[in-house]
Amino acid sequence: MKTVTLSTLQAFKRAGETFSCLTAYDATFAHAAREAGVEVLLVGDSLGMVLQGHASTLPVTLDDVCYHTRCVTRGKGASLLMVDLPFMSNTSTERLLQDAGALMRAGAELVKVEGEAWMADGIRELTRRGVPVCAHLGLTPQTVYQLGGYKVQGRDADQASRILEDARALVEAGASVILLECVPASLGRAVAEALEVPVIGIGAGPDVDGQILVMHDVLGVTAGRSPRFVKNFMAEADDIQGAFRRYHEDVKARRFPAEEHCF
Ligand code: KIV
Repeated sequence: MKTVTLSTLQAFKRAGETFSCLTAYDATFAHAAREAGVEVLLVGDSLGMVLQGHASTLPVTLDDVCYHTRCVTRGKGASLLMVDLPFMSNTSTERLLQDAGALMRAGAELVKVEGEAWMADGIRELTRRGVPVCAHLGLTPQTVYQLGGYKVQGRDADQASRILEDARALVEAGASVILLECVPASLGRAVAEALEVPVIGIGAGPDVDGQILVMHDVLGVTAGRSPRFVKNFMAEADDIQGAFRRYHEDVKARRFPAEEHCF
């Protein structure tokens, strides 16, 4: 695989070709995902849930994310590496810049921030300093207690148009990528159509530009009830490498997500 950059993702969007993304937390699994063809790896703060066993992503620290980023860097090869800014990195612009700087020094190539239009100033400051940003909208797990649980967002027309306007404002501020989590497929399509930047979806339907899942969900090892939008690819594969390959191929061929994975 040729080195994947933001330009690669933009070229995919222009060509109407979808791309696959997967969370990764260590060098070995990053290597396996890259060998399977996965274009983007995310050191997600989901590590707080799937690695550390917390009930949410809130306890994850900057040090935790930097540690896992350094591990993934050694296995990621040609994949593009996106890394999450942890809960409360956005308490001030200064802290946002410092935390993003720490992630970039650890190996991040794109930082992901949760937040709505009010994050525009922070995103503008990051991009002015050469830090590419992915803005995460829809279900934002760092606000799970405010949202009252892990629920589908943007179901009514007002909410849907607010998410679309937030996405526009954050792209205007400099975001290079939008990630949409857990929204109706119709909203995923509307946001992807409205924006020139790539839109990555998780539970956002088939008509976005890229798909992402948490690695543990792809391997069917997540404890508890799985959300509707995940698929256990291990059920159709002989080994972990095969499950990652199947996921990548199904995303590229637009076989995943299927109707049963959408809202
Ligand atoms: O932390 C994470 O893994 C994420 C994905 C759910 C997109 O943000």
